[in-house]
Amino acid sequence: MTNLKEIANQMTGSGKGILAADESTPTCKKRFDSIGVESTFENRNEYRDLLITASGMEKYIGGVIMFDETLRQSTTCDNKTPFADHLISKGVIPGIKVDKGAKELAGFSSEKVTEGLDGLRERLNEYYEMGARFAKWRAVITIGDGIPSLACYEANAHALARYAALCQESGLVPIVEPEVLMDGTHTIEKCYEVTDMALKITFDQLKKQNVSLEGIVLKPNMVISAIDCPEQATVEKVAELTLKCLKTNVPTEVTGIAFLSGGQSSNAATAHLNAMNAMGGSLPWNLTFSYGRALQQDALNSWKGENREAGQSSFLERAKNNSLAAMGKLAKQAI
Ligand code: 13P
Repeated sequence: MTNLKEIANQMTGSGKGILAADESTPTCKKRFDSIGVESTFENRNEYRDLLITASGMEKYIGGVIMFDETLRQSTTCDNKTPFADHLISKGVIPGIKVDKGAKELAGFSSEKVTEGLDGLRERLNEYYEMGARFAKWRAVITIGDGIPSLACYEANAHALARYAALCQESGLVPIVEPEVLMDGTHTIEKCYEVTDMALKITFDQLKKQNVSLEGIVLKPNMVISAIDCPEQATVEKVAELTLKCLKTNVPTEVTGIAFLSGGQSSNAATAHLNAMNAMGGSLPWNLTFSYGRALQQDALNSWKGENREAGQSSFLERAKNNSLAAMGKLAKQAI
């Protein structure tokens, strides 16, 4: 287990965070549509290459989450090195999204449960052979009228725990992601209540399934006002309530916590992380980022399918600021 703890620490320690570049092909198409680029196999390869081979990214990024297609792709500029090998040569840990997506939860009209446990052991073994040393599974909890139900929390937590146990058996660090969505009009207090319950039930299930907590990375949402809530909480309040919720629910053995950005603006995601690390004092876990949109939005806008260098420099700038935020050292004017 020491090895898993070391990997989790390399992914999240020393001011480094995780690049979530594991968008499924349909999600990648949505991102490319927004900048007018066709989502072909080659364009997806080129875009992922731009991020993965950006010079010096390893100063800020400890791990990259890939989609199945990407793990099978290679760098485009040199002699076509598989992405996993390229990352390993830079000291960055390659990772892989292994869930099969959030599907309708039978019997509950507007809730979801994440699928993908069948055949997972075999898939994990194959990914390990290809160089992956961590995996990701995302559960989705929606806040709405009368939801989440206890059934939704429990079904998702149970799947997360079984996935995590299988990962550890195969030598991979599981990223455990119980995401409470920020869609809707709910207040930050409601988000606190639901995140608190989601984390309690998730850790209860992780313990029941004998998951070693030092060998996981938790990927939670921040405690935040919903996108359409008329009253938006301040940066300080988001930081305070998120830290309170994590301190209450996340055992000290956990090595790293790496937030998702979840639809926050890139600047807000950076500012919130910085505030938590600046006010947090000494925390028992690494507290960092595992952003998808908040790390890639600037890069996508600068790249637009043709300007590789501009895409890389936007990505590096954003990664650097998030790395500073993971140490609580970002100057206010940089946000
Ligand atoms: P966002 O940061 O865009 O929410 O994506 C992170 C992620 O990996 C969601 O599973």
